[in-house]
Amino acid sequence: MAITVSVIKADVGSLVGHHRVHPEQISVARQLLEEAKAGGTLVDYHVTNAGDDIVLIMTHRKGTDSREIHTLAWNVFHEVTESVSRPLHLYAAGQDLLSTAFSGNLKGMGPGYAEMEFEERPSEPLVVFAADKTEPGAWNLPLYRIFADPFNTPGLVIDERMHHGFVFRVMDVYNDRVIDLHTPSESYDLLALIGTPGRYVVHSVFRKVDGMVCAASSTTRMALIAGRYVGKDDPVCIVRAQHGLPAVGEILEAFATPPLVAGWLRGSHHGPLMPVPLRYSQCTRFDGPPRVVALGFQLADGKLVGPADLFDDPAFDNARAKANEVVDYLRRQGPFTPHRLGAEEMEYTTLPQVLRKLEGRFKTLAERRLEAPRT
Ligand code: F6R
Ligand code: MG
Ligand code: MG
Repeated sequence: MAITVSVIKADVGSLVGHHRVHPEQISVARQLLEEAKAGGTLVDYHVTNAGDDIVLIMTHRKGTDSREIHTLAWNVFHEVTESVSRPLHLYAAGQDLLSTAFSGNLKGMGPGYAEMEFEERPSEPLVVFAADKTEPGAWNLPLYRIFADPFNTPGLVIDERMHHGFVFRVMDVYNDRVIDLHTPSESYDLLALIGTPGRYVVHSVFRKVDGMVCAASSTTRMALIAGRYVGKDDPVCIVRAQHGLPAVGEILEAFATPPLVAGWLRGSHHGPLMPVPLRYSQCTRFDGPPRVVALGFQLADGKLVGPADLFDDPAFDNARAKANEVVDYLRRQGPFTPHRLGAEEMEYTTLPQVLRKLEGRFKTLAERRLEAPRT
């Protein structure tokens, strides 16, 4: 019988600004998911965090987009907000719960979710990624490296089952539609789209030879849902590994050179995505830098065996050092692009007000030439 893995996350308030979740939030979420497991809704669960986001990792037999599972997650976030975030006056309590009228599906409601349903293999290793202070398109570059770049993933060349390539399902988040593109044959078309990660986001990846689902990521863009700034989208992603899929090491290798991503302070800056162990999953410098954790699990009849904290290793020290070096370099740019995002991508901006205020003072150079500057 097929198993579904649902990874659902939300920022419903955090300890000291947007730094990290409060331990009490985690324990309330655990308690509620334990009850759901005892009641038979879930096969298993694991609760974790990426910075200020609570991440619910759940397995069940109800398929993707299940009303029961989405309602469960919504209720958990709601209860955490009411019983912990609000009484403790945590910062931005309930931030990602955008609607008061929850309809049974999380699409457009604020929380991000990645889900996949599949027949569990005799041994089923998977990696759950969760990032803070960035957007869903942050996975584009790593997913391309993992599933389409033989310089990252030699298995594409030397493993028979991967040699035929993969299919990337890409979502245009501005128009809410998807397109399937095949690699390696359509790699250039794929790159033409996903090189704009603010708009084209890898939604899922399938193995070409048999259509097996290999990866799924969250594609919510809260700024687009709400039409105004309500926080980051802080994405999650699930990747299956081994035995005709990329090895765990090939999957992690994609993060060895930190990709530059959008988000960071005020959702308005580019910065490096730093791979960190769970104990460093918190945002400090300039509300960042953006971070990613990787938790590895073995599924055993739907049970989540693990997690292994996969970036908790000196092998990623150089990636972290490189990210810090890039942080120092970018910060010297202050409020200038491309460290600061372009005007259309910023989640905070005073530009329209500034332009309105200054409008009457714009003159042609010819007009100005005759006048002394205003003092
Ligand atoms: C939010 C975030 C932060 C905030 C910043 C300002 O996810 O990453 O950088 O944007 O701390 O927050 P406010 O406007 O709430 O003071
Ligand atoms: Mg926050
Ligand atoms: Mg966050």
